[in-house]
Amino acid sequence: MAQSKVPLEDPLHSDLNEIISAASRSADITRQLLAFARCQPVVPKVIDLNDTVEGTLNMLRRLIGEDIDLVWRPAKHTWPVKIDPSQVDQMLVNLCVNAQDAIDGVGKITIETGTVVLDDQSCAFHPGFVPGQFVTLAVSDDGCGMDTETFGHVFEPFFTTKDTGKGTGLGLATVYGIVKQNNGLIDVNSEPGQGTTFRVYLPQYAGAVDGQSEAAKTEPRRSEGQTVLIVEDEVAILRLGQMMLESLGYHVLAAASTTEAIASAENHAGQIHLLITDVVMPEMNGRDLAARLQKLNPELRVLYMSGYTADVIADHGVLEDGVHFIQKPFSHQELAARVGEALS
Ligand SMILES: Nc1ncnc2c1ncn2[C@@H]1O[C@H](COP(=O)(O)OP(=O)(O)OP(=O)(O)O)[C@@H](O)[C@H]1O
Ligand SMILES: [Mg+2]
Repeated sequence: MAQSKVPLEDPLHSDLNEIISAASRSADITRQLLAFARCQPVVPKVIDLNDTVEGTLNMLRRLIGEDIDLVWRPAKHTWPVKIDPSQVDQMLVNLCVNAQDAIDGVGKITIETGTVVLDDQSCAFHPGFVPGQFVTLAVSDDGCGMDTETFGHVFEPFFTTKDTGKGTGLGLATVYGIVKQNNGLIDVNSEPGQGTTFRVYLPQYAGAVDGQSEAAKTEPRRSEGQTVLIVEDEVAILRLGQMMLESLGYHVLAAASTTEAIASAENHAGQIHLLITDVVMPEMNGRDLAARLQKLNPELRVLYMSGYTADVIADHGVLEDGVHFIQKPFSHQELAARVGEALS
């Protein structure tokens, strides 16, 4: 919001850019930690794998340290894939940490993307492989490699060759879980002393690319004068949400509790078009609040906001279709887009 008030040539503009990227980096790391602890709903998106990998390179470089060279070889062309980008980050972190552990001192880790069409013949040699068009993500290292015994167990949960307290043996089990959840495949090549390559195959996304949210990214949707009731028990987020909505031209009623929200809805003379509510709140959850307010006003649209799977609306880790949802933390543009969708 501050940035939109500062002209592009003002030096403050680039300072604000730094603040934005530091904040979104922090948000990403929090997302990764939540994903690791499985406290986060999976939100698959159609992505270009090269872009997603590029976004993690700085973090991976910091993670593996200066003795190891991180080489990035993006494919010239990839196909779109549909996966939660934080799951790509999570796979890369686990594979790179393993590669780092396998390297004694100085070495090299290579991350590579590519495309491959698997036919019946090529699948015949790989148990579990199915024909199709895939985008590949490979992580190779020139470390110690694996013997046959280790090779046969790598994906088993709690299988580790590391000392007690060093490895839990969950890294590759997590990667395997993510691959399976996204209907992908994974294979390993390794020889003792010859290094290791893990290659993940993600199915090409064949559906139409979601153009609407792309358009929303560039041109935030503005209000047509509707009234929005926002309910959030964390006051800082409530104020921020209110400011964002007002700057988009909405008339905003803000409530810091469900009791306040109900009172405010009952006392408001005009129509309320949209309820934006947190899901987990102390007195009443967001869904019950929505049901209660919809009794007063059956036309009321609802947009849920939250950060966790523990939420009532999350089903098997993936949100139900048709429920309007925004993941916290959100940007001004994301909020504009989600509110526009919920109202249209
Ligand atoms: N790049 C690699 N090179 C050599 N061995 C590997 C490599 N990646 C994994 N391994 C072997 O596979 C085992 C299992 O890996 P996994 O990531 O599942 O667990 P971990 O690294 O031991 O522990 P955690 O990842 O939970 O901290 C490792 O202990 C190691 O023996
Ligand atoms: Mg590991």
